[in-house]
Amino acid sequence: MPPVKVLEDIYWVGAVDWNIRNFHGFTYTTHRGTTYNAYLILDEKIALVDTVYGPFAGEMMERIKEVVDPAKIDYIIANHVETDHSGAIAEVLKHASRAKVIGTARCKAGLEKHYFGNWDFQVVKTGDELNLGSRTLKFIEAPMLHWPDSMFTYIEKDALLLPNDAFGQHLASSGRFDDEVDEAVLMAEAAKYYANILWPFSTLILRKIEEIQKLGLKINMIAPSHGVIWRKDPMKIVQAYISWAKGEAKRKVLVVYDTMWGSTEKMAKAMVEGLRSEGVEVMLFRLPCSDRSDVVKELLDARGLVVGSGTINNGILPTVAPFLEDLVGLKPRGKVAAAFGSYGWGGGAVKHIEESLTKAGMKLVLPGLSVNWVPNKEELQRSFEFGKEFAKKL
Ligand code: FEO
Repeated sequence: MPPVKVLEDIYWVGAVDWNIRNFHGFTYTTHRGTTYNAYLILDEKIALVDTVYGPFAGEMMERIKEVVDPAKIDYIIANHVETDHSGAIAEVLKHASRAKVIGTARCKAGLEKHYFGNWDFQVVKTGDELNLGSRTLKFIEAPMLHWPDSMFTYIEKDALLLPNDAFGQHLASSGRFDDEVDEAVLMAEAAKYYANILWPFSTLILRKIEEIQKLGLKINMIAPSHGVIWRKDPMKIVQAYISWAKGEAKRKVLVVYDTMWGSTEKMAKAMVEGLRSEGVEVMLFRLPCSDRSDVVKELLDARGLVVGSGTINNGILPTVAPFLEDLVGLKPRGKVAAAFGSYGWGGGAVKHIEESLTKAGMKLVLPGLSVNWVPNKEELQRSFEFGKEFAKKL
């Protein structure tokens, strides 16, 4: 793929990673791959905004060379330390020996600890500007969106926001713009990205959007560091972020469970019917068969979550633990929850689940439902009623 013209004198020179299937270690499955977006700005001075993941450095350099001699690059804007964006800085600097690296103070410290390079670095903070000639780059610190070093770059002349990870999607595609991909797929990937990466920072996201609105920055285009560029309607993703950050959800419930010999599963299915009978949209996930990051994505617009596990060794099945651990870290806001499960003798799974759900900031709205061994007819009816009662708490 050649470099892609984004606007006059601004080029996408990043890389498309069609084959990556796991991100952030094995915490996030990227079924549709991803992209690492880097943007080259040609003016009296030349700036490269972000780079790519190290293994794609050569590919990026080839794209840069198609636009300009890399030796002419004056600035590398490092909006974020994480290696999927900074991994090729050292390679760029081999060719652009006079280039200065620009980022926040935390970015400087982070890059030094990642790459141990003695680079010419200029620290910037919110409100600082860098004139390139006809364009001026404006910097906006964005700590914890999603790392302490994170920063947005804004170009007033083009009404272009380069927010790095924010507003991104893990989506490899031949098109580089939102109007060149399927809209439903795009929004689903944007939601998955928000839920799995940005959810814990929802309060900060609302504040940052408000701060940008107060600055009165006109935004015609948002070019994130992953996925496609929002040019058709950039406010669509901003509005989606506001909605997700506020915890807006619908009458939808996830029933998430694992089972040893099928008893907890029988309860789960009876609950689904109880929820359905109250007109609630329900999704059922057995954990070992379901991708955790997909389940988290589905939770984003659900109002309720019911988690079940058979008891083993006085606790939960180990297959349920990673999901609960995700929830504790992500802290989904505004959800109601309940726990259930079968047991043989001592029990313990329901209590364990309830503790985790509480730790994740969810509100328990029903006492947990435990069933000894295999649920009989009455116990299945109780599971059905449990679903109905939960629906009324939404
Ligand atoms: Fe895409 Fe936080 O790196």
